[in-house]
Amino acid sequence: MAKISAPKNNREFIEACVRSGDAVRIRQEVDWDNEAGAIVRRVCELGEAAPFMENIKDYPGFSYFGAPLSTYRRMAISLGMDPASTLPQIGAEYLKRTNSEPIEPVVIDRRDAPCKENILLGDDVDLTKLPVPLVHDGDGGRYVGTWHAVITRHPVRGDVNWGMYRQMMWDGRTMSGAVFPFSDLGKALTDYYLPRGEGCPFATAIGLSPLAAMAACAPSPIPEPELCGMLSGEAVRLVKCETNDLEVPADAEIIIEGMILPDYKVEEGPFGEYTGYRTSPRDFRVTFRVDAITYRNNATMTISNMGVPQDEGQLLRSFSLGLELEKLLKSQGIPVTGVYMHPRSTHHMMIVGVKPTYAGIAMQIAQLAFGSKLGPWFHMVMVVDDQTDIFNWDEVYHAFCTRCNPERGIHVFKNTTGTALYPHATPHDRKYSIGSQVLFDCLWPVDWDKTNDVPSVVSFKKVYPQDIQDKVTNSWTDYGFKPVK
Ligand SMILES: Cc1cc2nc3c(=O)[nH]c(=O)nc-3n(C[C@H](O)[C@H](O)[C@H](O)COP(=O)(O)O)c2cc1C
Repeated sequence: MAKISAPKNNREFIEACVRSGDAVRIRQEVDWDNEAGAIVRRVCELGEAAPFMENIKDYPGFSYFGAPLSTYRRMAISLGMDPASTLPQIGAEYLKRTNSEPIEPVVIDRRDAPCKENILLGDDVDLTKLPVPLVHDGDGGRYVGTWHAVITRHPVRGDVNWGMYRQMMWDGRTMSGAVFPFSDLGKALTDYYLPRGEGCPFATAIGLSPLAAMAACAPSPIPEPELCGMLSGEAVRLVKCETNDLEVPADAEIIIEGMILPDYKVEEGPFGEYTGYRTSPRDFRVTFRVDAITYRNNATMTISNMGVPQDEGQLLRSFSLGLELEKLLKSQGIPVTGVYMHPRSTHHMMIVGVKPTYAGIAMQIAQLAFGSKLGPWFHMVMVVDDQTDIFNWDEVYHAFCTRCNPERGIHVFKNTTGTALYPHATPHDRKYSIGSQVLFDCLWPVDWDKTNDVPSVVSFKKVYPQDIQDKVTNSWTDYGFKPVK
């Protein structure tokens, strides 16, 4: 594989974004109390350059980087690609790299690890020494972890998990967070630690390289440290924690080490969520005791501000969920031509293009999609044929409104696994993560005669001979029209 020149850490990424105009340096003082959050939110809603806030009120020497991956341009930069790359090009690169040989991480000496430049232990441990932002007005507290990885090791299998599970500061030595029961950490807690009354060692890494953050969010079966290596083409540098046996990315800006407590819970939330709502009420949730904090000089805290589209959670999760589903369906031999999840669906609607070669193919796709580990994150699957451009919402919407038979094409799946964050779910179903899902089958039935029963599409591309299309296209401006973008 050709050498990849992706930014190796958060600082190289920020520099690359500033150079291409995809980040702005904000030198005037910004308040951690709402102002920084409001800037990041507005950036997400306008699709603007990412704010690099270099001067934070009350916290000299620290900075913030907001909305790291909320545009496809910044996603391309994170992968070392041309910022103008198209989504299908970025997707093809992700598939190529994640189908390559795994690249094992390396453990380096702690003296060479930037994240050890400052070490707080014992009585010095205090989260309020970090510029923890109040992300949204009305949040239940200041959130330490919004764009980060919570690192744990499976107690029996020994494999490492990096997951992005939000973490609120409860006090200087305690955090609480939402960990879904179907997530890797949720399963380790409910299957092992909680029934035994044992604490689970954790480390939170903030200010990761963008590809480490991408790996932490990706619903891939590949362990995240290896996945990160495959995405960046280089082994991830890890370093041992101060107070437990875990290893953390050595180039991260801030590391928080500690223990998830089995027998003590504090409240968490509410918090502005990726659905664009505040759905989960304040409740007693997973509680993290903090034993050590280490950080780089002039550390930069990364902030994601979730809300209405489009934030990096929506963009990145829709990107990786779509591509992981494409891999799964292809591994089952289904003639899929593409999978796309529009980020503005707040990763709720999966659009699958397929060659409709046999009966029941849409149902087979929906059953695999909803039945997989990816399933709880979306509740709608729409299946269209290979003639429909899945990236073109006008075409998809036209197929949906004209080919999905209300009686035969809509199939509801009941009592599935959902998340506590679905705004449309009943309060009871949210509480127990009970879901329901729906398939919109927009394929012409296989038993319809292709010539007589299947209606033909009436469009410029489908109706006119190629020579007429070329003539009209090439003469467009001569006719007096504006050039087509
Ligand atoms: C910004 C952001 C915040 C997230 N917050 C949470 C969270 O609070 N709890 C959770 O269970 N998943 C959350 N997720 C989704 C997980 O990070 C994601 O499912 C990840 O792949 C971990 O999954 P796994 O534990 O199944 O490997 C979040 C994702 C993003 C992008």
